[in-house]
Amino acid sequence: GAPVEVDLTPIAEGQIVKVFWRGKLIFIRNRTAAEVKAAEDVNLASLRDPQPDSARVKPGHTQWLIVYGNCTHLGCVPLGHQGPYEGWFCPCHGSIFDTSGRVRGGPAPINLPIPPYTFTSDTKIVIG
Ligand code: FES
Repeated sequence: GAPVEVDLTPIAEGQIVKVFWRGKLIFIRNRTAAEVKAAEDVNLASLRDPQPDSARVKPGHTQWLIVYGNCTHLGCVPLGHQGPYEGWFCPCHGSIFDTSGRVRGGPAPINLPIPPYTFTSDTKIVIG
């Protein structure tokens, strides 16, 4: 599949936008400062799939979280800004994800994966 360029300027703070790349759903989330802080201030030992938020975003662009949009349990589409961590909540069997897309409860075994992408400017990414 061809790389997909996404202009980030229309994505408001707090908003989640869905795009497709290679037929796969991807969430692009413009995280608020509070959402970034919540993602960073986590005891990694408490995580099922321990990953610091810094390993899931790009340096200098930490408000942007880009993750695959299908639950790592059985592939349903989780609902954004839902669940106890206000990350995502999967309506199918109750998996809970935080504002870094890391699994925090329910049957999902691993975090929402990060697709390959690069920032080509402060306001543009290319996925793929
Ligand atoms: Fe999401 Fe089962 S598919 S919890």
